[in-house]
Amino acid sequence: MKADSIAILGLQWGDEGKGKVIDFLSENCHAVARFGGGANAGHTIVVNREKFILKLLPSGVLHQDKLCFIGSGVVCDPEVLETEISDLEKRGISTGGRVFIDYGAHLVLPLHKASDGHLEASRGRGALDTTKRGIGPAYADRASRIGIRVVDIFDSKALALKLDTLFGAHESMLNEIQDEALINRSSLAQSLSHYEILFKPMMTDVGPKIMDLIRSGKKVLFEGAQGALLDIDFGSYPYVTSTHTTTGGIFSGLGIPPQYLGSTIGVFKAYMTRVGHGPFPAEITGDFASKLREKGGEYGSVTGRPRRVGWLDLVMLSRMININGIDKLAITKLDVLDGLDEISVCESYEIEGRKVSDVPANHPDFYNARPVYTKLKGWDKPTAGIRKLDKLPKEARSYLDYITEKIGIPIWLISTGYSRDDTILADD
Ligand code: IMP
Repeated sequence: MKADSIAILGLQWGDEGKGKVIDFLSENCHAVARFGGGANAGHTIVVNREKFILKLLPSGVLHQDKLCFIGSGVVCDPEVLETEISDLEKRGISTGGRVFIDYGAHLVLPLHKASDGHLEASRGRGALDTTKRGIGPAYADRASRIGIRVVDIFDSKALALKLDTLFGAHESMLNEIQDEALINRSSLAQSLSHYEILFKPMMTDVGPKIMDLIRSGKKVLFEGAQGALLDIDFGSYPYVTSTHTTTGGIFSGLGIPPQYLGSTIGVFKAYMTRVGHGPFPAEITGDFASKLREKGGEYGSVTGRPRRVGWLDLVMLSRMININGIDKLAITKLDVLDGLDEISVCESYEIEGRKVSDVPANHPDFYNARPVYTKLKGWDKPTAGIRKLDKLPKEARSYLDYITEKIGIPIWLISTGYSRDDTILADD
């Protein structure tokens, strides 16, 4: 079977502009499925000048005829999901009968959000700067086999026992926090039963549904959240999120085997950003960094935090392309580099006098890695809004050609603005 499905994965630290690419490509798909992460994601999509930020719902939801799936690999904050759905309904986008969530998706509860903040505070100077959306603690409870899943809220007796175990496990944290609302188990049980109405029509066994669609020739898009450099194993641990953001997460997060994945598109930004702490060899600071941040609107869409900015790092990009098995690349925000005299690209690192061309496994090395840059000529004519490859300024083409030559994978999609239409397909 040759599966007609595509995965869209971020190759940097998240915020690569996946939302736009997913929205653009989902037009030709029958369904979009989210396999990991939670409301720590913030996919920004602009349609007809209207801005949408989606945290849990797959970005394909903006196309009213698409089915949307949330797999068991996602941790779901029911409050966020409910608000997101009702906000879309208010804006004229109906979701009824086309959004589905797996029975086994774990819930993010108020206790997880409190625990996230508490853990961060206890880390002191070693804080990770998480989104504080309860992601780490919810996945930790899942791994400890004490989490609460979507299906659990439909059996109130069993749920009460499960909540006892969960609260017992978090007792010392709850004692330290001393928040009455947080320890009120009966009000939590009550609020969870309220979500029966939300989940009942959505709850399903996601894996078989997706496999049926693909077997019947329908195209499915697998939507990545966060980026490869935030993968729990392959990112810059511990400055990572708590899931597999790389290709492997698709199969475990949706419950489908690898032969159901057709091709994999990796999305990266023309420069780099990171929110939260952790190594960032090609980071830039000072006035120029502030200008780039402003021009690119580089503020977290979930938390509003200013993003750290830097030049494109080909060492990291190559590694993440290999880990994910990327077939084609999509570059976003090329227009943010418009008007620069010169553009730097990090090609290798220098660590204690040695030239290093791969991502260091060891943390201190990563922190000591100094970027070795190649400088390319910038372009003064705008790329913003250009929709044909041959209309790009010559130097912008050279920038793309240089990346392709170094990376060895074709750049297939180029995004030149926020709007759905500000997109170039290289083979168009
Ligand atoms: P957590 O996922 O909230 O636990 O945060 C762990 C790290 O991942 C922090 O550095 C966050 O800033 C980062 N992170 C999590 N989700 C995203 C995202 O969607 N975009 C960018 N960074 C993210």
